[in-house]
Amino acid sequence: MSPFDAPPDRRGSDSIKWGRYAGRDILPLWVADMDFAAPPAVLAALRRRLDHGVLGYPKVAPSLVAAVVDYLAAHYDWPVDPDWLVWLPGVVPGLNVACRAVEGDVLVPTPVYPGLLSAPRFSGRRLLTVDLVLTDGAWRLDLDALAAALTPQTRLLLLCHPHNPVGRAWSREELDALAAFARQHELVVCSDEIHCGLVLDPGRRHLPFAALGDDARRRSITLMAPSKTYNVPGLGCSFAVIPDPALRRRFIAASRGIVPEMNLLGLVACEAAYRQGEDWRRQLIAYLGANRDRVQAAVAALPGVSMAPVEATCLAWLDVRPLGLAAPVAHFEAHGLGLSDGADFGAPGWVRLNFGCPRSTLDQALARLVRACQAA
Ligand SMILES: Cc1ncc(COP(=O)(O)O)c(C=O)c1O
Repeated sequence: MSPFDAPPDRRGSDSIKWGRYAGRDILPLWVADMDFAAPPAVLAALRRRLDHGVLGYPKVAPSLVAAVVDYLAAHYDWPVDPDWLVWLPGVVPGLNVACRAVEGDVLVPTPVYPGLLSAPRFSGRRLLTVDLVLTDGAWRLDLDALAAALTPQTRLLLLCHPHNPVGRAWSREELDALAAFARQHELVVCSDEIHCGLVLDPGRRHLPFAALGDDARRRSITLMAPSKTYNVPGLGCSFAVIPDPALRRRFIAASRGIVPEMNLLGLVACEAAYRQGEDWRRQLIAYLGANRDRVQAAVAALPGVSMAPVEATCLAWLDVRPLGLAAPVAHFEAHGLGLSDGADFGAPGWVRLNFGCPRSTLDQALARLVRACQAA
């Protein structure tokens, strides 16, 4: 039996995901945290740290910086100078700081994780959205439409890579084309790569936007974290990689006084995950890949629902528009299934399903999905 088959019961715990439907028979497959316990090595490191007993303000240890630098080199073939790292208590704060650090309008391909849509608005920036296109069954960036949406004041593009919710791990060709676009229009690219550890094809590597070449590196802010891959989002630990010193200075200046100190336990978890989490991550990827295949097979057999192949993340992005539902999320809830509303991602009529759960939960959820679609 896989360790992912029988995780701890989260009902009645402090979980946002499970708390939404407390006391109701609705399986929560919405917010992007997985139902699995963190890797044993992470839990052991946290226990050891707690045994010390004193939980004061932490400093980022040189051993943690080395763990991050080694991890990025080993996993993504990306040489990172320790000076490029800026620690952050979350990727969403990083998106907001990026919008404050780079003046001007902000271009965002949609649909996308709501944090990329709110950051420009919260920062007093004008948000320019451009739809991804679905051609030949695959989601793609539409560079012509992005060019058409540019204003003379546009200075920043927010990229989600791998992409939540459409599940694409952008290819080298696509990223190269985007980098050329950014260069032509003098844009900084803030690349939210929080899902980079969840590329589901074990033979495929995540390619950071910043690793494309000198020009891409200079205009990049990369946001990463152990939170999604190792399922520790409640510990608030992430970092920006900003190679250009002037851009980094602007980013740090924009974060002063509004970004809190790092969480001590998040730092401990990060080092343990990056140093000792790889076997666990590989098992996770195999498990999620099989879950993804189950979702895809169930959806393929369902009239009125479709999805494109998911290359990365634990998320399936479902087009339920043909079902003609006035309120899709409420309809699925009425059939015992809690999904994320596509409207929050800029795409009403779509829903997002998180398959980062035990197979028994997933199978039950898929049976409910079928019943809900039949009843539409
Ligand atoms: C693309 C993306 N960025 C950011 C976040 C949230 O990051 P954090 O909790 O570190 O702020 C999520 C969470 O689902 C996400 O999917």
